[in-house]
Amino acid sequence: MNRMKILVTGGLGFIGTNFIRFIFENYRDIRVVNLDNISYGANPANLKDYENDSRYRFVKGDIRNYKQVCKLINDADVVVNFAAETHVDRSIANPRIFLESNTIGLYNILEAVRQYNPKARVIHISTDEVYGDILEGSFTEDYPLKPSSPYSASKAAADIFCHAYHRTYNIDIIVTRCTNNFGPYQFPEKLIPKTIIRANMNLKVPIYGTGQNVRDWIYVLDHCEAIDMLIYKGRPGEVYNISSGNELENIKLVKMILSLMGKDESLIEFVEDRPGHDLRYSLDSSKIREEIGWKPKYSFRKAIEETINWYLSNRAWWELITDKRLLNPTPWKLKW
Ligand SMILES: NC(=O)c1ccc[n+]([C@@H]2O[C@H](COP(=O)([O-])OP(=O)(O)OC[C@H]3O[C@@H](n4cnc5c(N)ncnc54)[C@H](O)[C@@H]3O)[C@@H](O)[C@H]2O)c1
Repeated sequence: MNRMKILVTGGLGFIGTNFIRFIFENYRDIRVVNLDNISYGANPANLKDYENDSRYRFVKGDIRNYKQVCKLINDADVVVNFAAETHVDRSIANPRIFLESNTIGLYNILEAVRQYNPKARVIHISTDEVYGDILEGSFTEDYPLKPSSPYSASKAAADIFCHAYHRTYNIDIIVTRCTNNFGPYQFPEKLIPKTIIRANMNLKVPIYGTGQNVRDWIYVLDHCEAIDMLIYKGRPGEVYNISSGNELENIKLVKMILSLMGKDESLIEFVEDRPGHDLRYSLDSSKIREEIGWKPKYSFRKAIEETINWYLSNRAWWELITDKRLLNPTPWKLKW
C-alpha cells in the first residue's frame, strides 16, 4: 500500500516541530519530508531523535527558491506550509523578507503544485492576525482582512493567493487561521518563553504599553491536532479558524506565569508600546468544531505549567541562543 507522504515546510520551527512529532507519535506509516532554510528561529536539534527514522527526511532549502520547491513537490500527497518569518517586531524593523518568505514563498508552493502535482492537498497555515484587531465579539472566517503589521499583511496576501489558486485553478487548498500558540520549542523572542526564561534568570520581564492587549492562547498540540484533522476532513477552498477560547490580557498572563514560577511581580517592566499594536484578537471557531468535530483537549492552566516545566528542564535548548538583541526591550527599533 502507498504510504501517505507529507511535505512540511518550516518543520524545524516551533509549530512545525510539534506537528511532525505529533504525526510520528500518532501514525506509524506516514512519511514526512521537512523543508526548512534553518533561519534564526529553527533548531535542527528539535527533531534529532528522528534523524535515522526511515519515515523522515530533512532537506535544507528555501521556499523562496521555486526550483527547490518544485523538486520536492512531485510525490507529496499533502503539503503543510508552516515556513514563514513570524515575529511582528522584526517585520516592523525589516518588512521585505516577510513579503519574500510569507507571500512569494507561498506563491512558489502553489505554482509548483499547479505545474507538477495538481492533485496534492495544500494546508496553508495562516494566522488570526490577518483580520486585524477586534474590540468586541469574534471574527468568523468571512470577515474582511485588515492586517495591521507587515507580518500580518504578508500572511493576508498569501491567504488571498490561496483563494485565487483554488478559484482559478481548482487547486485543493485549505487555509487555517489560528490564535497565539504556546508550548515547547518556541523561540524565546515570543512572549511566553521570553517571560519564563527571563523570570528564571531574575531579569526584568518587559511588557509593551499597559499590558492590556488581549490574546487568545492555544496549546500547540491542540493546533497540531486541528491541522491533522483538516488533512482528512477539511473541504477544499475553505478557511478554518482555530481557537481555544483562552482570552487573556498580556499583563494577566505574565502575572500568572510569575506566580506559577514563585517569582515576584516586581520583575515586570512596562516599556514603550510596539507601533500599530493590535489590542485584541478573538476568533469564532465554531466552523471547525461543528463541521470537523475538533475541539481543544488541553486545559490552559495545566498546559502553561507543562510549558514552564519544559523550558526549565531544557535549558540547553535555549542557552544555545546567544543573540544579545533578544534582551532588548523594544526590538522593533533594532536592525535585524
Ligand atoms: N506561533 C504562533 O502563535 C502562530 C499562530 C498562528 C499562526 N502561526 C503561523 O504558523 C507558522 C509557523 O509559526 P511558528 O511559530 O512555528 O514560527 P517559527 O518562526 O518558530 O518557525 C518558522 C520556520 O520556518 C522556517 N522558514 C522561514 N522562512 C523560510 C523559508 N523562506 N524557507 C524555508 N523555511 C523557512 C524557519 O527556519 C523556521 O524553522 C507560520 O506560518 C505562522 O505565521 C503561528
